[in-house]
Amino acid sequence: MPESIWTSRPADLYGRRGRDRFATALWGIRVLFGGFASASRWKPSLVTPVRRTHRATVIERNLVAPDVVALTLADPDGGLLPSWTPGGHIDVQLPSGRRRQYSLCGPPGRRTHYRIAVRRIADGGGGSIEMHEAYRAGDTLMFEGPRNAFYLGAEQDVLFVIGGIGVTPVLPMIHMAAQRGIDWRAIYAGRSREYMPLLDEVISVAPDRVTVWADDEHGRFAGVDELLVGAGPATAVYVCGPTAMLEAVRLARDEHAGAPLHYERFSPPPVIDGIPFELELARSGHVLRIPPNRSALGVMLDRDPTTAYSCQQGFCGTCKVKVLAGQVDRRGRTVEGDDEMLVCVSRAKGGRVVIDA
Ligand code: FES
Repeated sequence: MPESIWTSRPADLYGRRGRDRFATALWGIRVLFGGFASASRWKPSLVTPVRRTHRATVIERNLVAPDVVALTLADPDGGLLPSWTPGGHIDVQLPSGRRRQYSLCGPPGRRTHYRIAVRRIADGGGGSIEMHEAYRAGDTLMFEGPRNAFYLGAEQDVLFVIGGIGVTPVLPMIHMAAQRGIDWRAIYAGRSREYMPLLDEVISVAPDRVTVWADDEHGRFAGVDELLVGAGPATAVYVCGPTAMLEAVRLARDEHAGAPLHYERFSPPPVIDGIPFELELARSGHVLRIPPNRSALGVMLDRDPTTAYSCQQGFCGTCKVKVLAGQVDRRGRTVEGDDEMLVCVSRAKGGRVVIDA
């Protein structure tokens, strides 16, 4: 099948294609005359992080799966929290100094309260464990945002593919799709019903539109054909879940290059076309060898687990460092200056890069 000029570009981290000025101009025209949603695929990909910090009070803490805690947040003075749209997230500033992003999973646009849900990951970077342990009802939580890079478009034929904690950005989208009268369906997959957070809420929106795949009931993971069953060439697919699920869906939908595909990752993207390089940490003099299939951040974390990061996808700016020497292959989606590098995605063009770290 021939590719359009849009789909021939590599998809970005959000499943959107297109990142040049011409595309940006067309995107603007499209927004003006054709509505926002269908333009989301062409939205310019550089983003500037919003650095306004907000304070919220945790008013409720409850488990929504054995390993998932949900926190309900409110303005400490009883006012409204900043506006948001389904698919949006906030950047939580944890007491340790870590920053982590969590999707807002309450009713769409609700500003009296936010809800976030966090899966505890024992072998992660420690952020999810801290989220589970640091906050109780009455505590203060600091955050930036909300921001959104995973919008619900204007498509009328939509399939939501959900894997586990990937339900968090999708649940408000489902509510919105129902409110808009969109012809939507959802498949929610997980290891067991017990470990699928917010499952009852997803089903309650429209039981006849939701398919549940519990691995323990089938004795295996869902295959991509089962995840995409009923998705036609023009169906817009929104997927959020583990990397393996996301990549399988992306590959399967590649044959429908004109069909919208939107996705959000909760984990770093695979390194594409990476070449090995050396990363010198100027303050300590350590030289790290970065293999072609790993990020600089990943190797830095091996050495120092307290290395700052959040999104691991090149848009939040948390991991930005100053470059003292070397040629950088900049791959971030937030602005990187000539002497800056987002170590979660950007790499050296070869040889060695020296950073102020
Ligand atoms: S961790 Fe967000 S840009 Fe690197």
